[in-house]
Amino acid sequence: MSESRSEKNWWHSATVYQIYPRSFFDSNGDGIGDLRGITLHLDYLKKLGIGLIWLSPIFKSPMDDNGYDISDYQDIAAEFGTLRDFEELLEEARKRDIGILLDLVVNHTSDEHPWFMEARKSEDNPFRNFYIWRDPDQDGGPPNSLQSSFGGPAWSYEPATGQYYFHQFSRRQPDLNWDNPEVRCEIYNMMNWWLDKGIAGFRMDVIDRIAKEVDSEITADGPRLHEYLQEMHRETLAERNVLTVGEAWSATPGSALLYCGEDRNELSMVFQFEHVTQQWDQLYGKWRSKPFDLVALKSVLGKWQHALANDGWNSLFWGNHDLPRVVSNYGDTAGYHRESATMLATALHLLKGTPFIYQGEEIGMTNAVFQRIEQYRDVETLNMHRLHIEAGLSVEEFIAGANRNSRDNARTPMQWNSAPHGGFTTGTPWIESNPNYPQINVNQNLRDDRSIWNHYRRLIALRKSEPVIVYGTYQGYFDQHPNLYVYTRTLGTRRVVIIANFTAESVTFTVPNELRGRGRCLISNYENIKELESGVTMRPFEAFAVLQQIERSSSC
Ligand code: NOJ
Repeated sequence: MSESRSEKNWWHSATVYQIYPRSFFDSNGDGIGDLRGITLHLDYLKKLGIGLIWLSPIFKSPMDDNGYDISDYQDIAAEFGTLRDFEELLEEARKRDIGILLDLVVNHTSDEHPWFMEARKSEDNPFRNFYIWRDPDQDGGPPNSLQSSFGGPAWSYEPATGQYYFHQFSRRQPDLNWDNPEVRCEIYNMMNWWLDKGIAGFRMDVIDRIAKEVDSEITADGPRLHEYLQEMHRETLAERNVLTVGEAWSATPGSALLYCGEDRNELSMVFQFEHVTQQWDQLYGKWRSKPFDLVALKSVLGKWQHALANDGWNSLFWGNHDLPRVVSNYGDTAGYHRESATMLATALHLLKGTPFIYQGEEIGMTNAVFQRIEQYRDVETLNMHRLHIEAGLSVEEFIAGANRNSRDNARTPMQWNSAPHGGFTTGTPWIESNPNYPQINVNQNLRDDRSIWNHYRRLIALRKSEPVIVYGTYQGYFDQHPNLYVYTRTLGTRRVVIIANFTAESVTFTVPNELRGRGRCLISNYENIKELESGVTMRPFEAFAVLQQIERSSSC
């Protein structure tokens, strides 16, 4: 069997581009990106070749967590524009064959959502049971020891009723009670309202956390999770040809098949983070990261490629709005900025799955270089700063950790050109621009045929023109090699060999007999392409892919 998945879907050959609206383009000079700013740049995205935009939340929100705290699911945040602006964006995107995925944030709402404002008033309020309330423990403290992902207890006290409410994120993001059928019904109605407008689907925020059972301290992957997702599918997604991507930090290769197995009627794919968290410390997580280990990374990538080879579907990404910039994290921004950014793109985009590009990645944007805590805006970073300093960490150590892993690294304004603030705004940006915008920007990338942007454009086009990249079987080579990532994708008599050097050193290796032979170079980030003969020397951060014709169809 050369083609594993029986059913082909329109999104299998598409690439998704994530927009963090606040930081993409400000069309009205208030320092905050907006919907019209996105519409103005649809031609830019069309030229890049993407098929879908994932919009981080655009809904009405007090912006405690930049929109991941929604106070009205059916209205647009004033700073981003109006419903009319959204409809215009949708229509203009449709004309360019670009679908829009909205961010569905239904694990929690904002504390300013009318449901919560009602619920907090009294224990017999009709909305009380939309959220999760418990009595204090014997000493008046939180009901149990569950912790919020942003630091501190996952319970906040509500003086009006003398009870605690549950929140897995900030205290301003109370968790919804999915065990209440009325909550689920409201959510499905809201989803249908957006789907009826013609959106292409949803990215689902922390979807693995909706079915919590707080008394048994289960937050992720709760016993009723898949029951709810199947119900959601029946009530909203069935009969619609849309794409759904579930964010699931807790997903394992086994549970991923429950979310997105072909016959499960739940989601199209999961967005899981095992490859990204390889560098995190057991105890301090991302705030104290370990040195990069390519062998571990390859093992995780390979594991997921095999796990979802015959059923399910992978999402492929290096970064998003919660993660550091890919070239800062795994590449070499000083000596080999272009080479390492294009190598990383090549290694990822030729895997099996749907690639996601986070805004600015396609031009090699880098981490922020903030020196002072006052420059940060992210609620998680600010909370963690307070807690870590209280616990004895020095400010310098915290800033060093934040420079590597704060979510604000990915949130500095998109760098369009060399005008002030990278052309993002004519006003004062809500967060400082990276001072490297005169060197790293869209204009400079568009002018140079060998730029990072043009490399991404070629990778996106390859996925559309070469079915072997969409459906080919994955096989890894040199699993223990500390510098090289080598894998093949095979479909029928076509095989692509992908070789990527993850280091700033030249690396020579002996080509395995079975991979030797002539082929056509599909893509390379250096000039002077090589044949796969006995020995090959890979230059610093070199990556290329060769398409070979092989005799017999591979069997998997
Ligand atoms: C995951 C989102 O990606 C992140 O940005 C957000 O803070 C949390 N979920 C809470 O919604």
